[in-house]
Amino acid sequence: MNYSIIPHNANYVPQVQKPNATFLAQVGEQGIRDLLSRFYVCLDQSAIRDIFPAKDAAEMEKAAQTSADFFIQICGGPAYFNQRHGMPKMRQRHMPFTITAEGRLHWLICFENALQPLESSVKEEDLQSFWDYLNTFSIMMINAHG
Ligand code: HEM
Repeated sequence: MNYSIIPHNANYVPQVQKPNATFLAQVGEQGIRDLLSRFYVCLDQSAIRDIFPAKDAAEMEKAAQTSADFFIQICGGPAYFNQRHGMPKMRQRHMPFTITAEGRLHWLICFENALQPLESSVKEEDLQSFWDYLNTFSIMMINAHG
């Protein structure tokens, strides 16, 4: 696996491709939900904890499952996010939170940690396609300097 991170550069917006549908086929919906739970446990202990409005671990887990609704959908599964939360409009939804280039690095490193347990059961090219999606799309969530 190549967990390299594309540096943020205001002049360069990389193309974003959705993860391979075969990623969801291998991991399953519950596997995505577990992935997001692990990810949010990491965020809860991370340097960017303060930008999350959740007051405690239970609220972090609730946010994790909202995100899981999105990731299941983007991976080609049922449109849970649209059904339960409306149009994704991800950049707009992230505007209330201060997301810097450095914050993105912490966010991606937590995702790398959360993805590692899948390495033994998911084909590398499919896991790579998921990482590549995170790596590129997260650049567009940056909305602040510093
Ligand atoms: C691939 C890029 C990203 C995706 C697909 C994504 C996805 C999501 C989704 C689906 C939500 C829930 C939105 C809602 O409840 O309406 C969310 C919330 C949030 N995201 Fe992201 N995100 C991304 C990047 C980032 C980055 C880079 C950061 C910060 C470094 C970040 C910080 C947050 C915060 C603070 C929330 C609010 C959580 C809450 O309401 O408790 N996101 N994200």
